[in-house]
Amino acid sequence: MLKNRDASLEDSFGRVFRKLRLSVVDKCNFRCNFCMPDEPQWLQNDKILTDDEIVRLVTVLSEQGIDRVRVTGGEPLVRKGVEDLIGRICKIPRIHSTGITTNGFYLVDKARALKSAGLGSVTVSLHSLNPKRFSTVTRRGVHARVLQGIRAAKDAGFNSVKLNAVIVRGYNDDEILGFTEMAYTEGFNVRFIEYMPFDGKKLWETSKVVTGEEILSVIKSKFEIVPLEREPGSTADNYRFIDGGGEFGIITSISKPFCSDCDRLRITADGKVVPCLFSTNEYDVASLIRGGGSNEEIVDFFKKTVKLKAPGVESLIKGNVPLKHVRPMFRTGG
Ligand code: 5AD
Ligand code: SF4
Repeated sequence: MLKNRDASLEDSFGRVFRKLRLSVVDKCNFRCNFCMPDEPQWLQNDKILTDDEIVRLVTVLSEQGIDRVRVTGGEPLVRKGVEDLIGRICKIPRIHSTGITTNGFYLVDKARALKSAGLGSVTVSLHSLNPKRFSTVTRRGVHARVLQGIRAAKDAGFNSVKLNAVIVRGYNDDEILGFTEMAYTEGFNVRFIEYMPFDGKKLWETSKVVTGEEILSVIKSKFEIVPLEREPGSTADNYRFIDGGGEFGIITSISKPFCSDCDRLRITADGKVVPCLFSTNEYDVASLIRGGGSNEEIVDFFKKTVKLKAPGVESLIKGNVPLKHVRPMFRTGG
C-alpha cells in the first residue's frame, strides 16, 4: 500500500481513470480482415508481460482507482494459462469487475474454468450470422464453434453474454436486423461497432463506415425501442426493446466519439501504455518494471503518462495526427 498519495489517476482534463483494457497477448487464431494483416508480425514471447508482471501492474493501478479490468488480445484465450492469470486479477481486492473480449473459439473448452476463476462477464465478437461470410471475413473462424462457445458461456453461468459486431458497409450492413432479432428473441446484448481505422490490411475508408445513426434507423424500421440512460464513461448508446427481449448498444467511435468522460486506460501485451485508442503515442512501462522500478516509480510513471492523454479524437484529427491506420486493433486490444 502506498502512503501519502492522491490515490487516483486524473488526466489534464479532469477525467479520472477507472477502467483498464488489458491486452494479454497479440496473437490470434483468426485473421479478421478489418483487424489483422495477412502476415502479422507477432511480438517475441520474451517481450510479453508475464503473469507476475501483469498482476503487479494491475495491483498498483487498483490502488490508484482502477476498479474494472477487461482482458483483451489479440485473442486472450490463446495465452497459456489465461484462466489462472484472470483468477489472480479477480482476487485483487479493489478490482470489482472483470470481463473478457474474445472471438469465442476456445469458450467451448474454457468457459467453465473462466467462470470458476471469478471472471464476471464475456463479450464475444461475432461479425456475421452467415457461416460462409463469417469464414470469409475471419479467414479462419468456424461459425458453428463460436456459436457453441457462446452457448457454453451461458451454460457456465455468465448471465449477460455480449456480442460485438463491427458493421462494415458492403460486408455485413445487411445483417443489422438479423443481429437485432438475435438480441430481441434470444436475450443477447448486441453491440454494433462502427468500423475504425485500426485495420492491419489498411482497407478502412470513410465510405465503409456505417454510422450509428444509420444503424439506428434500420433498427427502428422494424423494432420499437427505448433509449437507456448512458452510464458515465460508457462507450455505447444503449437501447432496450419496448416489449422485452435483450438490449443492444451502438458504439459510435467515428461519427460521435464519446471522449469527454472517457475513463479508460490501455496496456498492450508488451507493456506499452496507450492513453487513447486513437493515440499515436505509447509509453513503455515494461522497461520500468523490468529495470527494477519500485511501486512508487510505477505510480509516478502512470500519473505522468495519463496527463499526456489528448482531450479526444476530434482534437487529434484537428491536430493533423495521421489517424488513418494508427495501430492495428490486435496490438491494442480494443
Ligand atoms: N474497427 C472496429 N472494431 C474492430 N475490432 C477489431 N478491429 C476493428 C476495427 N477495425 C473489434 C474486435 C472486437 C473489439 C475489441 O474490436 O472484433 O470485438
Ligand atoms: Fe482476432 Fe479479434 Fe482481430 Fe478477429 S478481430 S483477428 S478475432 S483479434
